[in-house]
Formats: sequence, structure tokens, C-alpha cells
Amino acid sequence: MLSVENLTKVYRTGDKALTDVSFTVPRGQVVGLIGPSGAGKSTLIRCVNRLVEPSAGSVRLNDLDITRLRSGDLRRARRRIGMIFQEYALVERLTVMENVLSGRLGYVPFWRSFTRRFPPADIAKAFRLLDRVGLSAHADKRADALSGGQRQRVGIARALEQDPDLLLVDEPTASLDPKTSRQIMRLIVEICRESGLPAIINIHDVVLAQQFADRIIGLQAGRVVFDGPPAGLTEEVLTRIYGEEDWTAMRQAAAEDEAAEAEQRDEAKKMMRAL
Ligand SMILES: Nc1ncnc2c1ncn2[C@@H]1O[C@H](COP(=O)(O)OP(=O)(O)O)[C@@H](O)[C@H]1O
Ligand SMILES: [Mg+2]
Repeated sequence: MLSVENLTKVYRTGDKALTDVSFTVPRGQVVGLIGPSGAGKSTLIRCVNRLVEPSAGSVRLNDLDITRLRSGDLRRARRRIGMIFQEYALVERLTVMENVLSGRLGYVPFWRSFTRRFPPADIAKAFRLLDRVGLSAHADKRADALSGGQRQRVGIARALEQDPDLLLVDEPTASLDPKTSRQIMRLIVEICRESGLPAIINIHDVVLAQQFADRIIGLQAGRVVFDGPPAGLTEEVLTRIYGEEDWTAMRQAAAEDEAAEAEQRDEAKKMMRAL
């Protein structure tokens, strides 16, 4: 379980990015963190693993107070926190398998990682994960030969190879098309449910968040202004989070995407029948 208490972040520039943020995430729960640009979503997930140092408050993961850890212990704790980013920082010239195995780098001794000699159990695990994310046929491909969706699948497998107790995901679909976005969200959520992993997913796309998350936390100017089930995102709540126009436009764009896809599916069916 993740427990965030009274988390506050003031950057050196004076920007107050988070004010008194508190919530807990139990095992297997996927939280969709939504809010307009600049609301503090990235700051919040970066404070959880202390890539950004919180100004006040605490973050606990399974009774470990992350905010109190010093260098060595912090590094060990970070290994148990899987991160997935928008454009996942894959090593372009390495293969898919090597990228997934890099999730073990925090665990294997330096000389072994240097010679890329990973224990057989790590390799077996990597194969299982590649299979789970639908990439087993691509294990030996170079990362730079993959599509955006495939790259994000490698990112997911890499994070899971770490054996995480928590998954932090920052805008995983921002550079993907709508259909691939839904596939990636579905995959992340399924994996969290299967393995009892708690997850926080930053996502500016309300419709996607509503469709896939178990729970929504809405940030507005660094404060939690909504915390509840996806069905609780009423017009009034969305306006509280995004202001008047933003979310209406977003809904409309999503509806148009869905309609375009349905049309494409119909076209494809027609073509199949014509063959
Ligand atoms: N490294 C930084 N230094 C100073 N201010 C920052 C930094 N990173 C983010 N901020 C500010 O903190 C606020 C929240 O930013 P961020 O967490 O990136 O929001 P979001 O991910 O929701 O778009 C913004 O006002 C932003 O300008
Ligand atoms: Mg962000």
C-alpha cells in the first residue's frame, strides 16, 4: 500500500506545485491522476520516488517511509518502484530483450551488468514478461525498429522486470494514437490487477482515465479537488478540475475518435467481405 500524507512541494523558483496532498492506494488499485497542464501531476509522482524532493509531508510504501531514506536505502527502495514515461527512455541501439533486462540493473553486480551477463532467472522472467506484453516475437529487434505502442510495451515489461511494489506512470499515451492508447492503458490496468500492484497513472485525457482507472484523483493548482470513483466525474467536478471549456472539447474529440475508429472497422469488414 502507498500512503501519501500532507505532501507539499515548493520549487526553488517559488512555484507551489503541491499543497497538502493526502491519499492512500491499496494493492491492485489503479489511480488515474488527472488535471490540467501545470496542476502538479508530474511533480506528485516524482515526489513519490523522490526524483523531486518534497518540501513537506511523507510518502510511505508498505511501511517504509520513503521520505526519510538516505542514499543507499533510497536507491534500494527506488528499485521497487517501476516507472513508465511518456516516451520511454529505451536504449535505442540495444535489443528489446536487453532493454527489458536493464530493469535488473539495480540488482545485479556491476561487473555482470557491464558484461551483460544476467542470471538465467532474470532472462526467463524477461521472456515471460515479453510474452505478457505481446512482444515475444520481437525480443531480438533493436528498440529503434519498434512502433510507439511497441516501445511503450517494452517500457512496461522493463518496469515489471524490476519486481516493483508500485507502478508510477507519467502520461503513457501522450504520443500514441487513440486506439493504441486504449490498448496500452488496458494492458497496464490488467497487469496491475493480476499482480496486485498499486499504480498511479498521470493522464490528461479524462475519457481514458474514466474508462480504465479504478479511482480518479483530480488535481487543480496543486490541490486535490476530487477523489472518488470514475462515475463521480460529473460536469460540476470536471469544471472544478479543468475550468469551463477544456473538458467539453476533450469529450468531443474523444467521441470523434471513437466514431472514426468505428467507421474504419466497418470499412475493414466490408473489404474482408469483398475479398
Ligand atoms: N523543475 C521545476 N522548477 C520549477 N517549477 C517547476 C518545475 N517543475 C514543475 N514546475 C512547476 O510546478 C507546477 C506543476 O508542474 P507539473 O508537476 O509539471 O504539472 P503537470 O504534470 O500537471 O503538468 C507548474 O507550475 C510548473 O511550472
Ligand atoms: Mg506532467
